[in-house]
Amino acid sequence: MRRCSRKRLRIEVFAFVLMLGLAGSNAPVSADADEGSEAKTIAMIGAGDMGQALGNLWAAAGYHMIFATRNPDELGDVIEAAGHGAEAASVGEAVERADIITLAVPYKAEPSIAEKYGDAMKGKVLVNVDNALEYRDGDIAEKAEAVGEAIYSARLFEGTRFIRAFNLKAACSFPEPDEVESADFEMPWTTNDASVRPIAEELIRATGGTPVYEGGLENAREY
Ligand SMILES: NC(=O)c1ccc[n+]([C@@H]2O[C@H](COP(=O)([O-])OP(=O)(O)OC[C@H]3O[C@@H](n4cnc5c(N)ncnc54)[C@H](OP(=O)(O)O)[C@@H]3O)[C@@H](O)[C@H]2O)c1
Repeated sequence: MRRCSRKRLRIEVFAFVLMLGLAGSNAPVSADADEGSEAKTIAMIGAGDMGQALGNLWAAAGYHMIFATRNPDELGDVIEAAGHGAEAASVGEAVERADIITLAVPYKAEPSIAEKYGDAMKGKVLVNVDNALEYRDGDIAEKAEAVGEAIYSARLFEGTRFIRAFNLKAACSFPEPDEVESADFEMPWTTNDASVRPIAEELIRATGGTPVYEGGLENAREY
């Protein structure tokens, strides 16, 4: 098990308390049941705590990981740790080659990423784990919270098959790849695109979590 700092643990406990308050909105959505089962390439934009925690788990689960930041030449240790053929690339190249894109960057980076790569992302699955935090992200946090962080991001990345997941769980609290089978946690997630359900659920199970579908993005919860 990864080790959580006290701050991370506080976030995790808070998220857990929120989860206990879930009102049974686990209604199924219809989707193509086969879509989640093929091996896929994931562009992980952001290779910090969250990008590495998820990326290492997905690499071990058989996804082809491409980690991308503004400094892909510095990601040698990251791709070595992920193993399983993981690569590093520029954001543009990773987006181009990926079936699924995950955003694991400070929320304030989203507008510029959307401006540069939003068109190339259209039609692709986009998993968003970013939280808007005023102390780190500034004004955009207030704007995003006013409409809902998930909805604000989905508007920035209009045309993607947008999934909101993983944002309520601290990076340090995910299992290591060899602990996935014994992991036991619920992972709430939301989307407005019913077709992504098998993909989202497979991604969540690959981290050791049990997917809890909470409906549309208006139901997405924040820290
Ligand atoms: N850490 C957690 O426990 C946790 C839990 C839930 C949700 N989240 C959310 O997940 C997101 C990532 O958190 P983190 O803790 O992993 O952050 P982090 O450790 O600070 O890593 C951020 C990563 O984003 C990259 N990045 C920043 N600006 C970029 C840009 N414009 N284009 C491409 N890459 C960029 C950084 O690389 P370069 O600077 O080299 O580009 C770095 O690899 C945040 O929004 C956070 O709120 C975190």
